[in-house]
Amino acid sequence: MNPTLTLPPAAVTSPWTAAERELGYHAGGPVNLGWLTSDRICALGRGAHPALIWEDSQGRQRRYTFDDLRRLSDAAAAFLARQQIGAGERVCLFLDRVPELYFAFLGILKLGAIVQPLFSAFGEDSLWTRLEDAGTAAVVTQRRHLGKVRRIRSRLPALRQVVVVDADGLALEPGEVALALEREPEAEGFPVYPATAETPSVLHYTSGTTGKPKGAQHVHGALVGQFQTARVALDLRPDDVYWCNADPGWVTGTSYGILGPWSNGVTQVVLDSGFNAARWYEVIARHRVTVWYSAPTAIRLLMREGSGLARAHDLGSLRHLASVGEPLNPEAVIWSRETFGRPFHDTYWQTETGCIVIANLPGLEIKPGSMGKPFPGVTATVLDPVRLEPIGERGRVGLIALRPDWPSMMRGYWGNRTAYESRFRNGWYLTGDRASIDGDGYFWFVGRDDDVINTGGHLVGPFEIESALLEHAAVAESAAVAKPDAVNMEVVKCFVVLKPGFVPSDDLELEIMNGLRRRLSPLAMPQEIEFTDSLPKTRSGKIVRRVLRAREFGEPLGDLSTLMEE
Ligand code: PRX
Repeated sequence: MNPTLTLPPAAVTSPWTAAERELGYHAGGPVNLGWLTSDRICALGRGAHPALIWEDSQGRQRRYTFDDLRRLSDAAAAFLARQQIGAGERVCLFLDRVPELYFAFLGILKLGAIVQPLFSAFGEDSLWTRLEDAGTAAVVTQRRHLGKVRRIRSRLPALRQVVVVDADGLALEPGEVALALEREPEAEGFPVYPATAETPSVLHYTSGTTGKPKGAQHVHGALVGQFQTARVALDLRPDDVYWCNADPGWVTGTSYGILGPWSNGVTQVVLDSGFNAARWYEVIARHRVTVWYSAPTAIRLLMREGSGLARAHDLGSLRHLASVGEPLNPEAVIWSRETFGRPFHDTYWQTETGCIVIANLPGLEIKPGSMGKPFPGVTATVLDPVRLEPIGERGRVGLIALRPDWPSMMRGYWGNRTAYESRFRNGWYLTGDRASIDGDGYFWFVGRDDDVINTGGHLVGPFEIESALLEHAAVAESAAVAKPDAVNMEVVKCFVVLKPGFVPSDDLELEIMNGLRRRLSPLAMPQEIEFTDSLPKTRSGKIVRRVLRAREFGEPLGDLSTLMEE
C-alpha cells in the first residue's frame, strides 16, 4: 500500500457536520462513495429519477435512472470481483465519456478498489507513466484506445487484466476480457466494501514542475466536501438538470461530474464530444439545463462565436453558471451576464484539494476578475513568500495557502511522501499559486508560483514534455514554457538545443512534433518549437524556464544574478 496514506488524517471540522448528517455519516462509520451516490438515492425514494442523460457527437442519446446506476454499478463491481480485482488495487478508466465509464467508476468504489481515471486522449508515454507509477492492476478501455494499451503492456508487469467495454466481434488477446454491462448478470445486493472515511477512493494524476506526474490520493470521506460544495457553491437543487463540461480524466469531471451531483440526487447531462458552440447551446436547450459548470477557455470560445448564436437558442432554463480551472477574465463575466442574463461564478480549487475551496458563492456580490472568498469551512490566506506566514497587508501578493482540515483534501501523493510533505509549511498547505486579498476578503488570482503551464485549464508539467523531447535523436536539451494565447490563456512553447551535427529545419521540427504527438496528449502538445543555441541556466546548471517564459509574455526578467554568464 501507499506509505503516504499513513499520515494523520485531516480532521473534519464543524462547518461540514450538516453535510455529514445528511449523508448519514458518523465518525468511524461506513462511507462508500459508490453506495452513497446510487443506492442511497434509491433508498430516499428517488430511484426512478433520471441520473444520467447521455449524448454523443452523433446525437445518440441514452437515459439512466438512479436505479439503473445502482444496478449497473453493482454489475460492474461483481464483474471486477470475478476478475480477481480486490480492495485497494488500482483500476484505471481509459475511456471516452461513454456511459460505462460512469457505472465502472461507481462499481470500482463499491468493490473497495481505487479508481484511476485517465484521459483517453493520452498517448502511450503519458499513459504508461501513470499506470506504471500506480502499479495499476486493471485497465477498463474501449476498442479505439486498446491499441495504445497493447503497445505498452509488456512494460507494465502489475497490469493483470484489460477490460474492453465494446468488444463485440473483436479478437481479444490473452489477458483481455469483454464487459458488456447491459448484458451482465444481475448482481443485486453486491456486498459493498465497508469503506471508512480514510479508505482510498480516487487517484488523480496531476503535473508539477519537477519529476513525473504525481497521483493525488483521495479518500471516501471526501464526499462530505464534494456533496456540500456542489450544493452550496454550484447551487444544486433536487430537480436541477446539471451539466459539467469536464472529462473525468480531470478532477472536475469526477468531483463535480460524478460525485457532487449524484450524491445530491441530481440529474446530470454528459456530452461525449468535444467543443462545438452550436451543439453546446442545443444541449442546454434540449435538456433544459439549469446549472452549468464550465471553464474559461470554453467561455472564451463561446464569446468568439458571438452572442447572436447564443440568442438563437432558448437558454432560458439556465439558473446558475460557474467556472473553474483558469483565471476567469472580467470580460467573460460581463459577457455572460449580457448574453445569458447571468454571470459565470468563478470557483478555485485543485486536483489536490478535491473540492472547491474559494468561490463566488450564489448571493455573494461578484467582483469580475476575483475568485471570490473561501468556502465556509475552509481557511485560506496568502503567505509571505519568504517567511511563509500570512501577509496581513491587504492587496499584497503572496502564496495561496490553506489549512489542511477540510474533508476532501488529498491524503498523499501515490508512493511519494517527500513530494507530499513538501507542500506543507507552518501548518499550511501551499497551493503553488499566487494571489492577493482585497479589503473585503476577496481573492485575486495572479499566477502560478512554479513552471507549470496551464493550457485551456489543463496543467502541463514541463518535465514530461522535455523528457519526451529527449527521446528524439537530435535533441540535446530543451525547455517547455508557457506562451500567451488569446483563447487557451497559455500554450506550450518548447526551446530546443540540437546535438552537434543537426541543423534546424522545418522538416526536423515536424519530425519532433510527430514524435511528441504519439507520446503525449493533444492537451500537452507544444504549439511552437524554437531552436536555440543555448538555454538560460543557473550557475549550478539548472535551466531557468522563468526567463524564457518572461520573454514570451514581455514581462521583466526578474533577478538574473544567479544565471550563468552567457
Ligand atoms: O493554478 C490554479 C488553476 O488550476 C490549478 C489547479 O489545476 P488542477 O489541479 O488541474 O485542477 C483544476 C480543477 C480544479 C490551480 O492551482 N486554477 C484552478 N481554478 C482557478 C485557477 N486559476 C485561476 N482561477 C481559478 N478559478
